[in-house]
Amino acid sequence: MPPRLVITRQLPLAVEARAERGFDAHLNVEDKPLSTAEIVALAAKADALLPCVADPIDKALIDALPASVKIIANFGVGTDHIDLGAAAARGILVTNTPGVLTDATADLTLLLILAALRRAAEGQRLIMDDDWQGWGPTQLMGRSLQGKRLGLLGMGRIGQAVAKRATAFGMKIHYHNRSRLSPNDEGQAIYHDTLESLARHADVLSLHCAATPETRGIINEDILSLLPPGAILINTARGDIVDDDALINGLENGQVSGAGLDVFMGEPNIDPRYRSCKNVFLLPHMGSATLETRTDMGMLALDNLDAFFVGATPPHLVS
Ligand code: DGY
Repeated sequence: MPPRLVITRQLPLAVEARAERGFDAHLNVEDKPLSTAEIVALAAKADALLPCVADPIDKALIDALPASVKIIANFGVGTDHIDLGAAAARGILVTNTPGVLTDATADLTLLLILAALRRAAEGQRLIMDDDWQGWGPTQLMGRSLQGKRLGLLGMGRIGQAVAKRATAFGMKIHYHNRSRLSPNDEGQAIYHDTLESLARHADVLSLHCAATPETRGIINEDILSLLPPGAILINTARGDIVDDDALINGLENGQVSGAGLDVFMGEPNIDPRYRSCKNVFLLPHMGSATLETRTDMGMLALDNLDAFFVGATPPHLVS
């Protein structure tokens, strides 16, 4: 009998087809978000779970899984929605899908930078609300990327891919990271040994670090107050890194001139005050949402499972 695999959400067709070939796979053809109780019920007699960022795989869920579940192959790179300690305590392995979503996420980061600096949301609203009275020389003037300082918090794969793209737009790269890059990887980028120093030099502050207890809420009032006048904030990492009260106050009082956000604390129930900020460009967590990337993510999750079920170490073991 092939291993029984519960896939919590609909995945690209090619991924589901491969899952059905290699596993006794439960697919979510209606793509209905599942509750903890539903996931636990589906996991009865399952050997593996393939969840995604929208499924809170917390201690209660993990403790309720049957002993047959030996591996959680996450569809995505971030595992902050999974209680890794609880999984380890039950002897359940956790894997992820690094690398394959770097380009798509970096592309979307540039989209947000462009949209926030060029006031795309306000422009689109003018058209959609049928309020556009015609072209005007001072209408919706944004700001150029050329010559602006891009401050990257986190200089892993995605941070570096964003730096490469932003350099092509004429931006100057500054970064803060747990460790400084090698001179070769650093290139012309300027390293800051504190987040405070980075914030002081960032016309655009873009977040590319993992959500951990240490990074929760680190983009707070103090950090936002250090940004140069006219600065914008971009987040394609995780909502938990940003203190929403501080950012919304900053956007309302002009301390922060705009924001491009793809991720939010408590998704999908975002702080409703964001909807009243005219200087924000908001997307529903779609950094990796291309067919190519989501297919690659699914294939990598299945690679991890295949390795595990032939007795090898999964290539992308988190814990
Ligand atoms: C990830 O992989 O962590 C993304 O946020 C999901 O697209």
